[in-house]
Amino acid sequence: MSFNPRTFRNALGCFPTGVTIVTSLKEDGAPIGVTISSFSSLSLSPPLVLFCLDDRNSELDSFLRAGHFAINVLSDAQQDLSDRFASRKSGKWDGVSWEPWNSGVPILNGCLANFECALVAVHDGGDHRIFVGQVERMRQSEEGKPLIYWRGNYVGLSDSLS
Ligand SMILES: Cc1cc2nc3c(=O)[nH]c(=O)nc-3n(C[C@H](O)[C@H](O)[C@H](O)COP(=O)(O)O)c2cc1C
Repeated sequence: MSFNPRTFRNALGCFPTGVTIVTSLKEDGAPIGVTISSFSSLSLSPPLVLFCLDDRNSELDSFLRAGHFAINVLSDAQQDLSDRFASRKSGKWDGVSWEPWNSGVPILNGCLANFECALVAVHDGGDHRIFVGQVERMRQSEEGKPLIYWRGNYVGLSDSLS
C-alpha cells in the first residue's frame, strides 16, 4: 500500500481535539507561546501531562532549555488567541492578560484550565518531540465551553458534528 500523507492528515483531523497554548520563558525572560492540540493527560500518580512539538518550531530550543512550561486550555471565546499563537506575527503578547506563577512561566487568564508543569522528560517522536511535564499547580473554571478543532476548523460544542 502506498502511504498518502494528505490522507493521513485528513484522517487524523477526524479526531476532534481541544486547543491549548503552551507557554514558557526564553533564556532572557521573554514569554513564548505556541498553539498546541496534541495535549494529553498521561498519568495520575505522579500527575503527568504531555504535548508534542514540531522539530521545526522556532521556539523548540527555548522549550528544551526551560525547566517549566504551562498548558493553557482555551475556551471558545479565545479563538483569536489560538490563531495568534499559531502564527509568526510579532507582538503576539500585546494585550494578552497573563500572570506568572511559582516558576515564572506565563499563565493565561480567562482559560478553562491552566497547568504549571516541571519538564521531566523529552522523547523523540518522528518529526516531533514529546514533552512530558509533572503538574505542580493548576486551576480550572466551571464557566465556559472548550474551543474545539475538527477537520481543520474550529467548531463549537453546539455545532453539529454530523
Ligand atoms: C489548532 C492548532 C493546533 C496545533 N497543534 C500543534 C501541535 O500539537 N504541535 C505543533 O508542533 N504545532 C501545532 N500547531 C502549529 C503551531 O501552532 C504553529 O506551527 C507554530 O505556532 C508556528 O510556530 P513557528 O512558525 O514560530 O515555528 C497547531 C496549530 C493550530 C492552529
